[in-house]
This record gives sequence, C-alpha cells and structure tokens, in this order.
Amino acid sequence: MFDLSRKTAVITGAASGIGKAIATVLAARGAEVIIFDLNEEAAAQTVAEITESGGNCRAVTADVSDLEQIKSRIAAIETESQVDLLINNAGIGHVGTAENTGPDYFDRLMTINVKGYYHMIHAVLPYMIKRAAGVILNIASVAGTVGISERFAYSVTKGAVLAMTRSVAKDFIRHGIRCNSISPGRVHTPFVDGYLAKNYPGREAEVFAQLEKTQPLGRMGKPVEIAYLALYLCCEESAFVTGTDFPIDGGFITLNS
Ligand SMILES: NC(=O)c1ccc[n+]([C@@H]2O[C@H](COP(=O)([O-])OP(=O)(O)OC[C@H]3O[C@@H](n4cnc5c(N)ncnc54)[C@H](O)[C@@H]3O)[C@@H](O)[C@H]2O)c1
Repeated sequence: MFDLSRKTAVITGAASGIGKAIATVLAARGAEVIIFDLNEEAAAQTVAEITESGGNCRAVTADVSDLEQIKSRIAAIETESQVDLLINNAGIGHVGTAENTGPDYFDRLMTINVKGYYHMIHAVLPYMIKRAAGVILNIASVAGTVGISERFAYSVTKGAVLAMTRSVAKDFIRHGIRCNSISPGRVHTPFVDGYLAKNYPGREAEVFAQLEKTQPLGRMGKPVEIAYLALYLCCEESAFVTGTDFPIDGGFITLNS
C-alpha cells in the first residue's frame, strides 16, 4: 500500500514547512524526490535529512515565478528521469484588505502563488500527456474557500488555485492525468512564525495562542498531517479521485460556521 517506488516527485517550496514534510513522507514511501526551492541552504539541509534516513532526494535551485527557468529545469530532469508527480506548494502570505493592499503586493502574491503553480503545470504537462499519466497536487488553503479576514490577496490567490485545480483536472482527465488540491487550515511552519515575528513583535506567544484557538480542535496542524493526505493523493490508492479539494483544517471550515 502507498508504494511510490519507481515514481519521481517534483515538490516546490520543499526546503521548509509543509513541502519539506511532503518530501520526507514521499521519500519514505520510495519516491525519488526533487525539491524546487529558492532557498539553497535550507533545501540542502532537507536533502541531507532525507538522505540520512535512507531516502532518495536532491534539490534544484528554482524560482517558480520564472517560466523559462522552470521549463529548462523540467526539461533537464526529463532527460534522465521523469516527473510522475508534481506538488505545487511554494507560496507566500500577506496581511491586508482590498483597501490597504497595494498593487505591488497584489502582483507579488499572484506571481508566486498563482503564476508559479501555472508555470510548473505548464512545464510538466507535455511530458505527462506523452506518457498518458501523471498526478498534480496543488496546496491551496482554507482561505481560498472562506476568505480569511485581512488576507485579501492571499485568499484571492488560493481561490484561484481551487479553480486551477478543477480546470486542469477537467482538461486532462482524458490524458490519464489527475489533479487535486489540499486546503490546509493553520499549520505550524516557519510561514506562521515569520508572520508573527513581522506583524506582532514581542506578542508572538499571545497571538500564537489566539491563532491556535481559531481551529475548533484547539491547535494548529502539523506539517506531517498534511503530508499524509498528500501521500494518499499521489498514490494509486487514490486513482478514482480527481478535481477535488480536500480541506484538512481541525474543523475550521465546517465547525466554525
Ligand atoms: N502554514 C500554514 O498555516 C498554511 C496554511 C494553508 C496553506 N498553506 C500553504 O502551504 C504552502 C507551504 O506553506 P508553508 O507554511 O510550509 O511555508 P514556508 O514559508 O515554511 O515554506 C515555503 C517555501 O517556499 C519557498 N519559496 C517561496 N517563494 C518561492 C519561489 N518563488 N520559488 C521557489 N520556492 C519558493 C521558500 O523558500 C520556502 O522554502 C504555501 O502554498 C501556503 O500558502 C500554509
């Protein structure tokens, strides 16, 4: 069950947080894991940790906002291996409403969180179509469904990821390609720590506790809890699943309303 030997997974943003946990879990199930991340040092650390525990992992320095670079990185992988699984995960956050979010920030969020996902999908599709096989998994967010307060640009980008998931699933179902998304609630990663340090200096612990309470389960998720769902969606066991979003949020969407 949940065997990924002979599969190669490209995971964006896997030097940290949720992506790192997905890389670790997929490698533990036998996948060759290729990390695409801007942060070379953190990516090297992740590769070292996964390799030490017996996994097959390497990192490629990549910026998902650069389509030409992404296309050449994917083409290079395809000369010696093949991208069976694409996990779009690299993303950034932003605090603001439609009133106080300036166009620069809006564009930046769109460029990484939306165009970055499109660039990766656009680059891998020709190869997946040729093989009539492939799995694409997009990490969205509960923000894309509920529109979290003061997360205007972020919520917009994650809503776009939900639509992108359905569109890709529909267009390529006849090519044997599945596309799904996961919408995590708050997960304790460097993403959250960075947000607290930037926006609530000196009050990090207090605001962290408040954030924990917004999940009916009373805590944030752990990156590995997202990774186990990602594993399922990447494996043959989920062969009947496509075009679907999976919230994993401690009850945030359904129990808070
Ligand atoms: N942490 C949460 O609470 C939470 C909740 C819902 C959804 N998410 C989503 O999960 C994903 C991962 O979040 P995380 O919390 O693990 O974040 P993180 O900040 O811990 O890691 C993000 C990684 O993406 C990389 N990255 C950023 N821009 C990049 C670019 N242009 N090209 C390549 N790599 C780039 C960073 O270097 C970093 O390693 C994001 O899409 C985020 O929106 C996170």
